[in-house]
Amino acid sequence: MEQKATGRVVKAFYLVNPNNPLGEVYSPQLVLQLMEVCHRHGLHFISDEAYAMSIYEPQTPFQSVLNLSPLPDPQKTHVIWSFSKDMNLAGIRIGALISQNKDLLHVVKNTSVYTAVPAIVQKAAASLLNDTVWLDEEFLPTHRQRLREAAHKTQNALISLGAKVQPAQAGFFLWANLRCFLPKVNHDEELALFKRFMAHKVYLTPGSEMRCADPGWFRIVFSSAPHVLEEGLSRIADTIKEL
Ligand SMILES: Cc1ncc(COP(=O)(O)O)c(C=O)c1O
Repeated sequence: MEQKATGRVVKAFYLVNPNNPLGEVYSPQLVLQLMEVCHRHGLHFISDEAYAMSIYEPQTPFQSVLNLSPLPDPQKTHVIWSFSKDMNLAGIRIGALISQNKDLLHVVKNTSVYTAVPAIVQKAAASLLNDTVWLDEEFLPTHRQRLREAAHKTQNALISLGAKVQPAQAGFFLWANLRCFLPKVNHDEELALFKRFMAHKVYLTPGSEMRCADPGWFRIVFSSAPHVLEEGLSRIADTIKEL
């Protein structure tokens, strides 16, 4: 609405669910409501579900848009998924666009000639997806358990330093408010704190880099080997103690 009022033409709504950088998961009810609003305004609804299988808190209500029925506007509903996050395979550069919209698929098919994934890589990726027993019984439970342990460890460490941490259920990062460590709450001080972390060789994404208007937020990635995470958390603590 705000964008329309400024004269901009809005064509699509892009929802990242589970969310990056927040780590939040939006309920099927909320997603359906958003889809209905999009339908009323003739907007495409793009659901980016790159972290769909990285939900580490049990009993989190999540459904892929592909499971919702009936869809308010099937022709304008599109889902994006990638091997990068859920499969820890960012290097193979494969993703998926799932849509019933023939015009869109036609355009993507023609333009994807320029970014084609090698056949041998496609074959390896397909055999991975077809191994549903390994995925369901080994890979995904281990993936989620490791994420859960690392998330809880990171969350506890940040809280014990005095940071506020956004409750998260998915992904491999936490969104934490470190504004209490800024001498003045503005983006310059946020960047100064980022540089202090960098001086300790630990990288936290400043919120301003993720277009967060409210200064003091940082995204902390926790999906490293346990000893690397421990080291990173102790460097964060050292940086803060020096302030
Ligand atoms: C929500 C989301 N979607 C898509 C991507 C793109 O992933 P890739 O280009 O590695 O497939 C990212 C990467 O950060 C992401 O966080």
